[in-house]
Amino acid sequence: MIPDLRVRLGEWELANPVMTAAGCAGSGRELARFCDISRIGAVVTKSVTVEPRAGRPAPRIAETPSGVLSAVGLQGPGIDVFLQRDLPWLLSRGARAAVSVAGGGVDEYALLARRLSEAPGVTMIEVNLSSPDPARGGRHFAADAAAAARVVAAVREAARADIPVFAKLPADVADLVGLAGECVAAGADGLAMINTVRGMVVDVDTRRPAVAGGMGGLSGPAIRPIAVACVYQVHAALPEVPIVGMGGVRTGADVMEFLLAGASAVAVGSALFHDPSACLRVLRELERELVDRGVERVDALIGAAHHTAGAPGAAAE
Ligand SMILES: Cc1cc2nc3c(=O)[nH]c(=O)nc-3n(C[C@H](O)[C@H](O)[C@H](O)COP(=O)(O)O)c2cc1C
Repeated sequence: MIPDLRVRLGEWELANPVMTAAGCAGSGRELARFCDISRIGAVVTKSVTVEPRAGRPAPRIAETPSGVLSAVGLQGPGIDVFLQRDLPWLLSRGARAAVSVAGGGVDEYALLARRLSEAPGVTMIEVNLSSPDPARGGRHFAADAAAAARVVAAVREAARADIPVFAKLPADVADLVGLAGECVAAGADGLAMINTVRGMVVDVDTRRPAVAGGMGGLSGPAIRPIAVACVYQVHAALPEVPIVGMGGVRTGADVMEFLLAGASAVAVGSALFHDPSACLRVLRELERELVDRGVERVDALIGAAHHTAGAPGAAAE
């Protein structure tokens, strides 16, 4: 038996449910030396900004026992170079290009969506709502559901109707389900979650925070249970809304865990730093897990943890 790996996220169809996570694979070039990127469900790019940006100062990365603390910021060449250089390259490799966008205001997000819609080949726009909002003292857009909804509505309006728009949510907000609901009401076709979780490492020799910005974002296996809980909770509240789950995915079994919690697809992030071919390895492992369990279609797993007898409600602690 060869399991059917196809999944649907609303109108968006993927050959398999394993994608890259934004910011962990650049625009795909970094991975192409190690694996055939056309076989990845979709390549999600580093968040693209309107202007070129240098990102945060070094040091930007610190190791933690089961994750990475990073403070890279929104480093990138800006939308013009992305459209001239990176997107055509990605498409020339047969990859499905999903583009993450980050703006300094609603107008910038809308501009990015418009520019991406004029280019051929963009299969999804992911709205990074963890970008700092200068109008609100640098707090990220997701910290205020109304601000996040304004961004999503502007992107949905500016983007071509046939390009799905996914809102990428962080876990560390006061009311994640409320935020998810506002984003969907504003026009999001799906949700991606979670972004990194705020953390800090202090260097005991220098007596200073290990990354230059002080705080960083924690990713990797340390955050997987947080991410699975977020997906479970949001799927329980909004079962019709497709979710791309991420946070610490390293193995095929990890993918299963997210799908069972309610994700329709899963993204691999930090694992790519030590294994750039992780997406395809994870896919092979997923296939083997399905065969071992006699599961013929991967989409049969989506949300199944909610239907198992005795499954807890979303509010269960
Ligand atoms: C170095 C680094 C850069 C990242 N850059 C972005 C980014 O540009 N946009 C975004 O939405 N998320 C970004 N993320 C968050 C990841 O997409 C992902 O949500 C998070 O790392 C959790 O997945 P993981 O544990 O598999 O890494 C970044 C993460 C890391 C570690």
